[in-house]
Amino acid sequence: TEHKATNVTFHHGSVTRDDRAALLRHKGATLWFTGLSGSGKSTVAVAVEAELTRRRRLCYRLDGDNIRMGLNANLGFSEEDRVENIRRIGEVARLFADAGLIVLSSFISPFRADRDRVRQLHDEHGLPFIEVYIDVSLKTAEARDPKGLYKKARAGAIKDFTGISSPYEPPEQPELTLTTDTMSLEDETAAVIAALEAQGIIP
Ligand code: PPS
Repeated sequence: TEHKATNVTFHHGSVTRDDRAALLRHKGATLWFTGLSGSGKSTVAVAVEAELTRRRRLCYRLDGDNIRMGLNANLGFSEEDRVENIRRIGEVARLFADAGLIVLSSFISPFRADRDRVRQLHDEHGLPFIEVYIDVSLKTAEARDPKGLYKKARAGAIKDFTGISSPYEPPEQPELTLTTDTMSLEDETAAVIAALEAQGIIP
């Protein structure tokens, strides 16, 4: 990333990440859901959010359509804009995870290099990053077509549509893979919670 601001110095406070973890009784982390449009990223994130909240763990969802209405309202779906979309979300996720929250991030995030950059950012800051691949075939996602977008994309009404006219690069070594066409939402939620427990993020 190009740094436009010069003469800036990082200012450290006196409250540590451990202080915040002690306050919340769990660690901050980012769960990064990635997959095709209509794969079920948001559905899983919503279910995990409900379960974590039931268990009194503080979490927060960052979701494609929602973030594109605010923070990233000036970005479209060109390759350049998707890269910037994920860069900004990655920084926001990192800040929230540092604040002690369990971040549930669901963006198509089609490019491996962008996801790896977010992973690296978390690594550099000593924050857990759990990549969750929401694995469905294009055929299944297109058959679901919850927003009618595949139909429009096939008709040529949406350009750069992921899976049709823009690529999706699946993760090579995700921490977790959920096949939403064969697993129940309950089992998927349990698998994500188990991953958080296994990494010592929640007790
Ligand atoms: S990305 O690739 O990570 O920057 O995309 P994301 O921010 O997750 O936004 C994806 C949602 O935007 C809608 N949409 C499109 N998706 C893909 N390609 C094109 N051209 C496009 N245009 C609009 C779509 O509703 C996606 O939502 P999900 O929930 O993934 O279906």
